[in-house]
Amino acid sequence: MLEVQDLRVYYKSILGDYKSVDGVSLSVNRGEIFGIAGESGCGKSTLVDGVLRLIRPPGYIKSGKVLFEGVDLLSLDESGLNKIRWSKISYIPQGSMNSLNPVLTIEEQATDTLIEHSNLTKNDAKKAIEEKLRVVGLPREVLRSYPHELSGGMRQRVIIAIAIALNPSLVVADEPITALDVVVQKSLLSLLKELRDKYGVTLIFVSHDMAAHAQLVDKLAIMYAGKVVEIASTQDIFYNPLHPYTKLLIASIPRLEKKEIKGIPGIAPSPLNWPKGCRFHTRCPWAMEVCSTIEPEMLKVNGGRMVACHLYQNGGEKY
Ligand SMILES: Nc1ncnc2c1ncn2[C@@H]1O[C@H](COP(=O)(O)OP(=O)(O)OP(=O)(O)O)[C@@H](O)[C@H]1O
Ligand SMILES: [Mg+2]
Repeated sequence: MLEVQDLRVYYKSILGDYKSVDGVSLSVNRGEIFGIAGESGCGKSTLVDGVLRLIRPPGYIKSGKVLFEGVDLLSLDESGLNKIRWSKISYIPQGSMNSLNPVLTIEEQATDTLIEHSNLTKNDAKKAIEEKLRVVGLPREVLRSYPHELSGGMRQRVIIAIAIALNPSLVVADEPITALDVVVQKSLLSLLKELRDKYGVTLIFVSHDMAAHAQLVDKLAIMYAGKVVEIASTQDIFYNPLHPYTKLLIASIPRLEKKEIKGIPGIAPSPLNWPKGCRFHTRCPWAMEVCSTIEPEMLKVNGGRMVACHLYQNGGEKY
């Protein structure tokens, strides 16, 4: 359904370009829940903004292709892109539950959004949003509410209802459960799963929360320093991580029986100046000489697993 090829998204600055997404390739199959994980600042939001061509200056798309059902979104004109946005692909931006318009009722802002992106009349737009409020488990009275009258969990459900109102085939959700309590998180994860299981929506789920990925996604891409370093089924990522960064990320998940808090030594590098060679070599306990000079390519190993690491050079073929 979606194929991203060597995408680069940079932000201009007086110090030079911030290479926040720097050569990402991945593909998402229809009906899949595809997760994107990695620590803060690794480029997750920039990646999905780039895929949906929502990058604003000083950001720009340096190069790459984004094929959605075979059409390159990066070469479409604005009107071609608008036909696809919302009706085929919809987007839940990071923090969007806090950016509902405070002076409009949910009905006003939801119908405005739908009318803007479709040929629906006001009445049909209202019906569409009413139906989706039911899907996300909210009463229709919510239509008359202002955002401040709703809890965080309810606002996030409203955002999801608006996102699915035009029956898109792909929903991209950036940190949709972050900053909510665990009970609300759990119910939102069930809702997102239901969107796929019951309504056939393909979902890209962006989160730094590995526990959320474990519960929801089928396949997981791990990002580090503007690159995807590993892609595998969620099962494989958790039980048999290959990339050293993934191994340390999984080992950092707090466990009740172990009192110590583990982390990854060192700090993430700056997109202004990525380390030469493998970007993780400065923090990697397994680093070899080659890692500081040659950037590892994405390799296909172990029957379909993908990892970009010199440790697997001889057992893998170039992807
Ligand atoms: N508008 C901008 N101008 C300049 N740099 C930016 C801009 N937006 C993001 N960046 C830089 O791009 C890098 C990636 O940011 P991004 O928001 O994509 O990370 P993220 O993985 O989504 O992080 P988080 O988990 O905190 O949401 C960061 O170093 C950030 O400083
Ligand atoms: Mg983000």
